[in-house]
Amino acid sequence: MHLGIVPANDGSHHDPSACLVERGEVRAFVEQERMSRDKHAEGQFPLEAIEEVLSIASISIRDVSTISLSRNYDNRRKALGRLARRGYNSTTSGCFERLYDTVMLPLKQSTQLTNEKLRSLTASKLSTHFDIDQSELPEIRCRNHQHTHATSAFLPSGFDEALVVSLDNYGGHLSGGVYHGEGSQLRMLESFPRFNSLGRFFGDFTAFLGFRRSNGEGKVMGLAPYGEPNEHIGSVVESYYTVDDGHYDVEALTYRKPSDAVAKLERDLGFDQRYWRDEIEQRHKDVAFHLQRVVEDIVSQLSEFYLEREGLSKVCLAGGVALNCKMNKRIRELDAVEDMFVQPAANDAGGALGAAYIDSVEAGDSIAEMHHPYFGTAYTTEEVTAVCDELKVDYDVVDDPPERAAERLADGELVGWFQGGMEGGPRALGNRSILADPRSPDSLDRVNRYVKHREEWRPFAPSMLRSAGEQYLEGELSKAARFMIDTYETTAAARESIPATLHPADDTTRPQIVTADANPRYHSLISAFEDRTGVGAVLNTSFNDSGEPMVRSPQEAIRDFYSMGLDVLFVEDVMIEK
Ligand SMILES: [Fe+2]
Repeated sequence: MHLGIVPANDGSHHDPSACLVERGEVRAFVEQERMSRDKHAEGQFPLEAIEEVLSIASISIRDVSTISLSRNYDNRRKALGRLARRGYNSTTSGCFERLYDTVMLPLKQSTQLTNEKLRSLTASKLSTHFDIDQSELPEIRCRNHQHTHATSAFLPSGFDEALVVSLDNYGGHLSGGVYHGEGSQLRMLESFPRFNSLGRFFGDFTAFLGFRRSNGEGKVMGLAPYGEPNEHIGSVVESYYTVDDGHYDVEALTYRKPSDAVAKLERDLGFDQRYWRDEIEQRHKDVAFHLQRVVEDIVSQLSEFYLEREGLSKVCLAGGVALNCKMNKRIRELDAVEDMFVQPAANDAGGALGAAYIDSVEAGDSIAEMHHPYFGTAYTTEEVTAVCDELKVDYDVVDDPPERAAERLADGELVGWFQGGMEGGPRALGNRSILADPRSPDSLDRVNRYVKHREEWRPFAPSMLRSAGEQYLEGELSKAARFMIDTYETTAAARESIPATLHPADDTTRPQIVTADANPRYHSLISAFEDRTGVGAVLNTSFNDSGEPMVRSPQEAIRDFYSMGLDVLFVEDVMIEK
């Protein structure tokens, strides 16, 4: 079995994870944050996640045949040479600080960031934690971070050939890569160095708008449709980028320290960074609007160029930037694009899938198409009742949870729904979900008020049957529509029937198309809801309180059930009511 790891050894690394692949199939995939209960698990080497995937697959670390990490430092010399030649653009630091950035920092990084150090750190953590001699571990390989993202998107896509685009903040010393995928191989067409980073570009604006980098980008995307064209703001945002002949450049903003980039935005836009508690004003929404448009323009032009040059019609996306489901919509809608697959764990965590897939391919396996992301921990009804007994919680074991949940949803109640293996990636897709009636806009307020405790302007999304997708969504459904990571225009019927799941500002939606093959129980629930109401969709949001990772275990679900305004909870066949 092949073990892929997204390592993290300092605070700049987030979303560490572990994955096991056996003969081309994912056996287990778990993010460290679900184990440590610390969202994004910054700087945590994912020992608990590794322990969990081994436990899910019922093997020991000794049974692992290969280990690959989703990071290497192969581009180290080039990247550090570039930094030493240019230094950071800085307007806020003094000459000693600039000297440090230009000379000392590259020197320091050149000794710290090496594949050898990453390998030995990993070997030492594994051998200590699992009480195994280092010599018993297989060779640890360091894989290019962007290549692991790209692999995680292409190999399980089911496409024979596709354009593959990976874009993120940075990993190793690259912030993106464009590939031609064919068969089981990816050929790099272009790469982007660390500072020419669309993830960093979006992050600079995210920080300027008062949200946390590498966390609040989704909120900025959600804010964008509330914005309007603004000549001054538009000209500033557009002045930071060029895109031409398959290459973009955003270093006019990003080639400086993050704090300097925010200071530059303040200067150029003519107003101060928003403090997170401050009211969101129209100008903040307008900044988000122009930022979103620029990022969409860049990635769609980039994709169009390579699709035409390579003669391709399918696109695969991964890397943190691919969590931007509005951008994904623009790519899907390109004339040249026939179909699109987006890795549901597009964030760093998905690199573990890519790393393990690479090893599996090298062992001669072909990779199975990914129809669902339910590769995490699962529990039996007996295990759940034992937890309830221990917690002295009253419960019923029922033989028809989907039917009962549908009944409660149709009555307007808020339902906790915990079934099967936990989802990998940031979206709950019906196994660790909070569900509500999509028919009334009131559901939006009720979920925000009683359950999620989050900003009222943020949209919710629907899970729907394929037939409902055809009724409510405009355009052809892409493969990415399985994962709530692609956005669609909606029909008049959607605005009538599922208003709580449309973006309040532009009526678009980010659906999950649920099939009986991918998730039979969830499909039954939505079908039962359709039988009662005529609407083949439910509002679905992740089962967690604001700022926390999704629940993993029955204990966590029960605790959240009592600390939130949920009406009823289904954990496997166990029903708990208030
Ligand atoms: Fe990444």
